[in-house]
Amino acid sequence: MNDMKFNRRDFLKTGLGAAAISAMPGFLSISYAKDGFIEIRAMESEQKLYLGDVPASTLWTYNGSAPGPEIRVKQGERVKVRFINELKEPSSIHWHGIRIANAMDGVSGLTQDPVQPGETFEYDFVVPDAGTYWYHAHNKSWNQVGRGLYGPLIVEEVYPTFDEEHDLTLVIDDWRLNQSGQLDEASFGMPMDWSHGGRLGNWLTINGQSMPEFELNAGEAYRLRLINVSNARILELDPNRFDAKILAYDGQPVEKPEMLSYEPFLLGSAQRVDLLVVPKEGRNFSLEELSGQEPFPYANFKVVGSGKMTGQVPVLKPNSIPKPNLGKASHHKLRMTGGAMGQLDNIFYKGKRLEGRDFVETRQFWAFNGIANLPADPFFAAEHNETIIVEIINDTAFAHAMHVHGHHFQILEREGSIVEEGQPWKDTFLIGPEQAVKIAFVADNPGKWLIHCHMLEHAASGMTTWFTVA
Ligand code: C2O
Ligand code: CU
Repeated sequence: MNDMKFNRRDFLKTGLGAAAISAMPGFLSISYAKDGFIEIRAMESEQKLYLGDVPASTLWTYNGSAPGPEIRVKQGERVKVRFINELKEPSSIHWHGIRIANAMDGVSGLTQDPVQPGETFEYDFVVPDAGTYWYHAHNKSWNQVGRGLYGPLIVEEVYPTFDEEHDLTLVIDDWRLNQSGQLDEASFGMPMDWSHGGRLGNWLTINGQSMPEFELNAGEAYRLRLINVSNARILELDPNRFDAKILAYDGQPVEKPEMLSYEPFLLGSAQRVDLLVVPKEGRNFSLEELSGQEPFPYANFKVVGSGKMTGQVPVLKPNSIPKPNLGKASHHKLRMTGGAMGQLDNIFYKGKRLEGRDFVETRQFWAFNGIANLPADPFFAAEHNETIIVEIINDTAFAHAMHVHGHHFQILEREGSIVEEGQPWKDTFLIGPEQAVKIAFVADNPGKWLIHCHMLEHAASGMTTWFTVA
């Protein structure tokens, strides 16, 4: 994976470092209605995205800020959310990575009708797995998530782990700002982005803030939960630079926390990684984006005190996700085509073969097995508890971040690299240009589920399909 090349960053060059920002970015607290529901309101609100004295941008947010409030619950708990849509267009909320009951999955047009302006919808579900998840709009996500409709959903373990002070959620977003430091609204939906790498930004925020600073105590163990909510940006990080170990991918703990043996680490759209950091005395560090000419720090960690490591690092137990039975699996192939510099010659959309100007007019540039966007028939129909192996063949010139709804899978094979046994569970995986990857999971969750690229422009312009589980 470390040989994939991505577009270079092009950050705004003004005023960096000039502003002395020293904040502990927090989240809005969640508010409960009298009947025990958490109320989440989609609304327009003003928020400053860039440093210094720039005007605010008009975002679409949950409860008035992007990210929306952090929803924190315990494993096995029931979550009740009343979604109130105060936007001018329909929306719905998807609970990304939760192995949820199908009717609560929040996919407009597949698992529910979109919630109309002024209307409400009650989500009521149980969270089976502890870990780092998130929620986001799932109607025209390229526009709605791109404008700020997302928030963290943290499912705490039922046994003691990292306490509040040592458990930090870091929601990372990639914004495209214009020259005045405001959200560049004019470029939403640009065919150029849709047919290439998606809407890439030029500025990163953490928890909605620019270049925040966090204070950590030397010698104490911290859990940093990184969530990439970017429309399309694959973040390039190097946790080895601050001696961090991997605790979990996409919410699911690894067997034993370990340092990565390669760099940079790629965190694709929608992916999460939990890092274990034990800061050393006097060793401040930063989160850096490494895809540009030079490392670009976007969050700073100041280490205070002189504590030596004491006590024990909390151990995360695995969630119980059913193991694929590889000897008795049904096999499916998903060929990804289209996009700039790719094959555009055999793509069908709504039953019609696209030609010439059709691509730009329908804004469909990508296909799964020759079909752009949701086909009438599912990609496959699984029996309940059947093991499914999907071979995904990326015949495009771009990397993609593929997401499976309602299930976690393991990677079995990745072209060009050695995949050892006991791979971590994931809900989203990166696939390189011209690469093939095999994944396996047990289809244990009845209903209609999406498989799509989580680069939201790609999802909208063809890279979306679905499967059913009996
Ligand atoms: Cu995070 Cu179908 O989405
Ligand atoms: Cu993609």
